[in-house]
Amino acid sequence: MEQALMEQNNPAPAVRMLPTYVGSTPHGTEQGDFLVLELGATGASLRVLWVTLTGTEEHRVEPRSQEFVIPQEVVLGSGQQLFDFAACCLSEFLDAHPVGNQDLKLGFSFSFPCHQTGLDKSTLISWTKGFKCSGVEGHDVVQLLRDAIQRQGTYNIDVVAVVNDTVGTMMGCELGAGPCEVGLIVDTGTNACYMEEARHVAALDEDRGRTCVSIEWGSFNDDGALGPVMTIFDHALDYESLNPGAQRFEKMIGGLYLGELVRLVLAHLAQHGVLFGGCTSPALLSRGSILLEHVVEMEDPFTGAAHVHAVLQDLDLSPQASDAELVQHVCAAVCTRAAQLCAAALAAVLSRLQHSREQQTLQVAVATGGQVFEVHPRFRSILKEMVMLLVPECDVSFIPAVDGGGQGVAMVTAVAARLAAHRHLLEETLAPFQLNCQQLIVVQAQMREAMIRGLQGEASSLRMLPTYVRATPDGSERGDFLALDLGGTNFRVLLVRVAKGSVQITNQVYSIPECVAQGSGQELFDHIVDCIVDFQQRQGLSGQSLPLGFTFSFPCKQLGLDQGILLNWTKGFNASGCEGQDVVCLLREAIGRRQAVELNVVAIVNDTVGTMMSCGYDDPHCEMGLIVGTGTNACYMEELRNVASVAGDSGYMCINMEWGAFGDDGSLSMLSTCFDASVDQASINPGKQRFEKMISGMYLGEIVRHILLHLTSLGVLFQGQQTQCLQTRDIFKTKFLSEIESDSLALRQVRAILEDLGLTLTSDDALMVLEVCQAVSRRAAQLCGAGVAAVVEKIRENRGLEELTVSVGVDGTLYKLHPHFSSLVSATVRKLAPHCTVTFLQSEDGSGKGAALVTAVACRLAQTTRV
Ligand code: BG6
Ligand code: GLC
Ligand code: GLC
Repeated sequence: MEQALMEQNNPAPAVRMLPTYVGSTPHGTEQGDFLVLELGATGASLRVLWVTLTGTEEHRVEPRSQEFVIPQEVVLGSGQQLFDFAACCLSEFLDAHPVGNQDLKLGFSFSFPCHQTGLDKSTLISWTKGFKCSGVEGHDVVQLLRDAIQRQGTYNIDVVAVVNDTVGTMMGCELGAGPCEVGLIVDTGTNACYMEEARHVAALDEDRGRTCVSIEWGSFNDDGALGPVMTIFDHALDYESLNPGAQRFEKMIGGLYLGELVRLVLAHLAQHGVLFGGCTSPALLSRGSILLEHVVEMEDPFTGAAHVHAVLQDLDLSPQASDAELVQHVCAAVCTRAAQLCAAALAAVLSRLQHSREQQTLQVAVATGGQVFEVHPRFRSILKEMVMLLVPECDVSFIPAVDGGGQGVAMVTAVAARLAAHRHLLEETLAPFQLNCQQLIVVQAQMREAMIRGLQGEASSLRMLPTYVRATPDGSERGDFLALDLGGTNFRVLLVRVAKGSVQITNQVYSIPECVAQGSGQELFDHIVDCIVDFQQRQGLSGQSLPLGFTFSFPCKQLGLDQGILLNWTKGFNASGCEGQDVVCLLREAIGRRQAVELNVVAIVNDTVGTMMSCGYDDPHCEMGLIVGTGTNACYMEELRNVASVAGDSGYMCINMEWGAFGDDGSLSMLSTCFDASVDQASINPGKQRFEKMISGMYLGEIVRHILLHLTSLGVLFQGQQTQCLQTRDIFKTKFLSEIESDSLALRQVRAILEDLGLTLTSDDALMVLEVCQAVSRRAAQLCGAGVAAVVEKIRENRGLEELTVSVGVDGTLYKLHPHFSSLVSATVRKLAPHCTVTFLQSEDGSGKGAALVTAVACRLAQTTRV
């Protein structure tokens, strides 16, 4: 199996492992009427069924069906004859069972080894089981059937899907506790199919989800691997068959062969004088004179002896009294071996499933079908016992197929229809998240206009706040500094030692409980000072008054480096009595309340500015700072002459754009979806930070959660079952997006993550959740890229340059942890700002280091002024 899955063809694998293009097990909610044509399952007959799927298990509608015996000359004739015969049967059936004026959708159950290349494309590899029609091997059987239907010309029938009988059996299995993921047939021939991880199937270009693989295990042993198990009777049977050397495993198990094996053994025993007084008869020596039904009758514990006599008499043999028991023994031995071999093969499948799913105990349902199960009294129990012995760690339930698999074929046809419908709904839902280049150019242009208005002090959703940082570091800064970093995922206190050519940082993370972040301002700032005191004690700095830089990642109106009036809280903060106040004063007051400490607050710095400064220390081209974390924002070096609110015409000033608020004037409404609106409405600041709410870590998980709720309500996800957990706010963390979207293990992670949340999901669900995450994070990265493009283009134009080379210092958990975010941002910038060469530098030490550098520059300048 493994060799074939990996397409290792040397030596040729003994089983085929054929992908069936069935990618999901049924929901049980499929509905509709379907025509089913079965060819090749039981003997030389053909069945036509009319199956009605009602969508509920309670109301089953019995299918109408009709069986047609295929004349032997057709079984061994030309392919055209065979398919014309099939088309003729279809017409005859429809004439006899009028179904009204409706679309006729047909599922074709064709039980021979086929290379499928789609749900309705299947090339016969070779005939098995007594069929041998010319001109079919190597051809698409769906096309042959379509052609024949057209030649017939009476009905317009759409052949929607072709399936192997094993697949029909698995798909038609009545839903038990869990999905049925294995189909096993022991009919005229034998075979099994199961749900394999798609990434293990080399023939498929797909690393996501599961796919049903038809093993075609009938050919196992064609390479002689079972040599020691094969008897002289198996060799003789094979030699005389229509396909010598092929399907040698099937020939030890399939119903077409069991009677023949018994016949060969009986003839052998008679020839050796063990049976029938050493006499044979021409009938006993003729191929095909003992059939499966004879074997079954003779094995019957109650009436078996009488049947033995009748069967032998029909073969012109005169059995002696002692013969009956021996004959029964032979029948039992042949059938027991068949069931045991079948169990061994099934055990191989189950243990593969168990290993690939990494489960200690595998709970699995196996759908069984075929006349051997139906007629042989002990086959099922021997099989079960043997499987339990071989794979005791698997908890297997065997479930008999409904309508000989006909229902399953209808299911596949219906599933194909359902998947197409669901995919359509998914695409419709995600379409507004798929932004094209034109839309992004519009965002870039709007951002550009809002920047200009903001700088000029006109009404704009971009505040464009001066930061009083006039230069990036020049490397001459020295000294020891304290820094605070408030407003991201972590609150940190840092000791930053800036020496010649090196910056040493020691930091400590403290938590800010939500009740403090949303309590009173006094409590918040007292807590901050407590953390500083604790840090000083731990670092042996108590009593020293080091210059302090305060990274405060919220919008502040600055009037100088050490003055910042909080305009409004953003992200999850909402401490009372702070908005409109100078944050440096609030900190100084808290220091005053805690009389034991003295602190010298020199500068207040936005995290974007801290990040730019921090990266600027190593790269003089770094003139922009970008944060994509809990929130999102950017700053950049603007010409002072463009900044209306600050006096002076020469030189630069770093502007904190506060781009999170972009669109708060309604300008982004054409991009905003109903999911964005729900997230906004449920936030603590409705109507505010609309750009941030489409991009940053605090919100993406929530957007995804709202989409999932919507898709569930449409029945596209989780079988339409709304769960409490998915209705819980913030349950879907943005870090899940990063995990879910990472590399090829994605699907397993999707399942694990969602199962942790208490959701049960199919592979299809997992795939769709992944697509939802991708759409949401992709839009976020593209919007962010459009913003960066607007900024770098403005810098380029400010300077009147044809081409600009610029670096952007970046920080934030989403940017750093998400597997594709950063590359999508760069790609968007390359597209929208083709004349700028933009390098993104990830800040390693957070913006605390930048705050210290701003402080250092300020101290240096203060000293210079004094001198
Ligand atoms: C950190 C900075 O590295 O990045 C913080 O030091 C900043 O000041 C943060 O707020 C942004 O990322 P996040 O993901 O923590 O919000
Ligand atoms: C033969 C066919 C296979 C089928 C099985 C059971 O082995 O090759 O496709 O599933 O018989 O009918
Ligand atoms: C929010 C804040 C802003 C900060 C950003 C990133 O948007 O308002 O000041 O820079 O989050 O942390």
